[in-house]
Amino acid sequence: MITLEAVIFDMDGVLTETSRQHYLAWKQLARDLGFDISEAINEQVKGISRLESLEIVLSAGGMGERFSEAEKIELADKKNLIYQSLIKEFTKENLSVGALELLTSLKSNNIKIALASVSKNAQFLLEAMEISSYFDVIVDPREVKHGKPAPDIFLMAAKMLGIKPKSCIGIEDAFAGVESIKSAGMQPIGIGSKAHLYNCNHVYSSLTEINIDTIRKIIYETECCQ
Ligand code: G6P
Ligand code: MG
Repeated sequence: MITLEAVIFDMDGVLTETSRQHYLAWKQLARDLGFDISEAINEQVKGISRLESLEIVLSAGGMGERFSEAEKIELADKKNLIYQSLIKEFTKENLSVGALELLTSLKSNNIKIALASVSKNAQFLLEAMEISSYFDVIVDPREVKHGKPAPDIFLMAAKMLGIKPKSCIGIEDAFAGVESIKSAGMQPIGIGSKAHLYNCNHVYSSLTEINIDTIRKIIYETECCQ
């Protein structure tokens, strides 16, 4: 029988909501380059690394081919400085509703907890929101070869925990993140809307809708329905 041994969390859009800040930072960068982006770009950059997101933003402005690799790094750094200025006051008040309850319950039931975020600002957010101590493993995105939707980051989390992927549940808000969890051989839980996360069987609008029993049931159902 497969039992639940670990829950691997994404950060942005799951443990806290930062998509507005990412969007505003990209918008500012785009404005400085002379074009505008619409909020629709938000879904496209969710779960996607900074440099890959930059490509998406530049293409939206018809500037996909304009910059050298070195210039792109400068642009990405510029966006990051704007983004960091927008999240610098984050505190535990910015934790998603239900996050603390879920983390506490997992911990008291001896379920391992890991973070699999591609954001290089995730460590800062964990500390700012005072939840670092809940995590047994925090994957360093700099060590991950292929970003989401590749399975690498979730596989690395499971490996660092020493737990088989099939005993792990991944929680994600991004389409690419759900793909990453599935290709790692884990069951995904989606946070958001079924319209965006149509690749996920278990989607909830917020963390308040799930608890350890919901998560255990998903693992159990997987086994009995395979
Ligand atoms: C998360 C966000 C993405 C962001 C990525 C990298 O996955 O959903 O929108 O591009 O992190 O974040 P960073 O903080 O490293 O720029
Ligand atoms: Mg996310």
